[in-house]
Amino acid sequence: MRPSLFVLAVVLALPLQGRAAYPERPITLIVPFAAGGPTDVVARIVGENMGKTLGQQIVVENVAGAGGTTGTTRAAQATPDGYTIIMGHMGTHGAAPAVYADLKYDPAKSFEPIGMAAGTPILVVAKKSFPAKDFKEFVSYVKANSEKLNEAHAGVGSVSFTTCAFFNSLIGAKPTRVVYRGTGPALNDLVAGQVDYMCDQIVNLVPQIQAGSIRAYAVALPQRSPALPDVPTTKEGGLAEFQVSAWNALFAPKGTPPEALKKLTGALQKALADEGTRKRLLDLGADLSDTKAQTPEGLAKLVDSEVARWNKVLKTVASSKEPAQPPK
Ligand code: MLT
Repeated sequence: MRPSLFVLAVVLALPLQGRAAYPERPITLIVPFAAGGPTDVVARIVGENMGKTLGQQIVVENVAGAGGTTGTTRAAQATPDGYTIIMGHMGTHGAAPAVYADLKYDPAKSFEPIGMAAGTPILVVAKKSFPAKDFKEFVSYVKANSEKLNEAHAGVGSVSFTTCAFFNSLIGAKPTRVVYRGTGPALNDLVAGQVDYMCDQIVNLVPQIQAGSIRAYAVALPQRSPALPDVPTTKEGGLAEFQVSAWNALFAPKGTPPEALKKLTGALQKALADEGTRKRLLDLGADLSDTKAQTPEGLAKLVDSEVARWNKVLKTVASSKEPAQPPK
């Protein structure tokens, strides 16, 4: 064997510990929505702690568009070397196949599951001046006036889109559905009173509710959220059928080396066990109780069941026509 080929053969045969240890450089964490939304909030909190464990920064890149499917496609097609991962969610890795016939990825087959980062209860919220004193009145008002109302969401297939499509169909409402590149910008317009209501994941809403900038009418859970003990459940408000919650989870492109995946899952689980990180997430209403889904196997099962669930639900709810643009 020629000396250069011999050296190459020896290098390739080296056990992993003989090569530079992963990660040697910062890791890009794709958030498939605009900054300031729940996916972005969870990604930044969890990513900060994981970066400390991994000894490399986790750099969030917001790649918004098409209800999260633009960024998710980018992640699916990234080089599977452990340096690009994505914070997906119940929309990108659950509902999307039911609403996009031409989806360029498969939530299960195009990714390696790393683990769930947070369960995210759904709230029904409205602009501060919304003329309803409680959830019952809110539902009656929306039913009676829906054609004059604007409902904000983060794009077809997103969590806000999917859960509010479900809500609207339950009460027979047909508002104008206003699309944003994430619920961060949608929330800004809700605070400014430019849109009327939305259904969204709790984690970016809690500070605005506590500050009195928006109104929270109900949480779509069987019990109240410890982060917002004054907000009743949809069941208490007379709409028990509207119970739904979402989740955020980390995925890597299919083919990412097992050593990298092991480190990423380990760092995620360590972050979710860290007291400071847990407190930040719990204070925002995240649910960290599903420890099974914090494993790759548990997350894979969740993805399969969510794809099946939303396929069924979305067949029966409102049409997914692309709606109006945000008011200027
Ligand atoms: C969603 O509706 O899917 C999310 O709230 C979007 C986001 O995280 O901005």
